[in-house]
Amino acid sequence: MLDPVIAAQIPADDFTIEQRWAQYTPDEHRIWDLLYERQISALKGRAVCEFYAGLEALNLGSGGVPDLEIINPKLKALTGWEVVMVPHLVPDLVFFDHLANRRFPAGRFLRKANQLDYLEEPDIFHDIFGHVPLLTDPVFADFMQAHGKGGVRGHRRGMLTQLARLYWYTVEFGLMETADGLRIYGAGIVSSFGESVFSLDNPSPNRIRFELERVMRTNYRIDDFQQSYFAISSFAELFKTVGQDFGDLYQRLTDNQQAFNPDDVLPDDTIINLGTQIRAA
Ligand SMILES: [Fe+2]
Repeated sequence: MLDPVIAAQIPADDFTIEQRWAQYTPDEHRIWDLLYERQISALKGRAVCEFYAGLEALNLGSGGVPDLEIINPKLKALTGWEVVMVPHLVPDLVFFDHLANRRFPAGRFLRKANQLDYLEEPDIFHDIFGHVPLLTDPVFADFMQAHGKGGVRGHRRGMLTQLARLYWYTVEFGLMETADGLRIYGAGIVSSFGESVFSLDNPSPNRIRFELERVMRTNYRIDDFQQSYFAISSFAELFKTVGQDFGDLYQRLTDNQQAFNPDDVLPDDTIINLGTQIRAA
């Protein structure tokens, strides 16, 4: 059933709507608190330190669904980003344009109590708990804006599929090699009860060193946990990667559209863990 607060609004030209925080119900605030507590306990130090710093800076566990009027001034003061509400998934170009202007589009609705682990579309818990803490980190914040600008340019070059793979394997499902071992930074993992453990601890998936062109040629799963995760060494590496001129890369990707399967392991890969792929068998 459509969220009545969304149904009552006509989105602006950039697809944004008002949050109308006062209209979240007590049940919705309780579901947020439940998801928050459950996720913090599932993560147990598995996420990168920048994620925890962001949670604290924005005080996202202070009780109930976050109010954009409270978190946006804090986020803006830290990195110039803000969160805007959208009624549902927005067209790619609209999405990239928001990122290019340091606006993160988040869904207003929250999943129901009987769907804690099932989502057809990203909800406010995925979007705010998963994505927004890292937007307090200056380097990640710059990377996300650069990804948005690159998305607008890449869209014109017909590179949407390749850019979606990059976004998927970094922003949504990225891992980082740290001095303490592999840690999670991808929003799809940090907001998932099952995958926050699976991605680091399960023997099934491959864990491979991130390489831009490799990732942009790799298909991904949308129906289950990932079969391969790609690990960066730092957000600075990520920012540097998307800051380069993509002209030659786009030419190669246009000339040779070969795509790899989600579980492929290639001769040039730097393997961190070779997965058994038993989950997908
Ligand atoms: Fe997401």
